[in-house]
Amino acid sequence: MRRLLCDLADVPDGHVKAIQLEGLPELAVANVEGAFHVFEALCSHGASSLAEGRLLGCEVECVLHKGRFDVTTGKATRRPAKKPIAVYPSVVEDGQLFLESD
Ligand code: FES
Repeated sequence: MRRLLCDLADVPDGHVKAIQLEGLPELAVANVEGAFHVFEALCSHGASSLAEGRLLGCEVECVLHKGRFDVTTGKATRRPAKKPIAVYPSVVEDGQLFLESD
């Protein structure tokens, strides 16, 4: 099943956008040089939304303690963040981004 996340134009290159879909935790979409990546917005270190963070290449930086995560894998890349975040498969079709789920 596919669920609409956003129009591609809503997430410019180098930006992150929060997306809320019913029944799921808050998600974030990052545009890394035209490639879109979807991940769980809640930082694994604390109560902060990574959708508010800065995108530095393929890493998003948490605004609270500056922990970083690779948005392509979910791996924590800078302390104090240690635990990964969930990443989700997505697909682009007709200028829109969709979440791929079972
Ligand atoms: Fe994100 Fe601490 S809450 S690094």
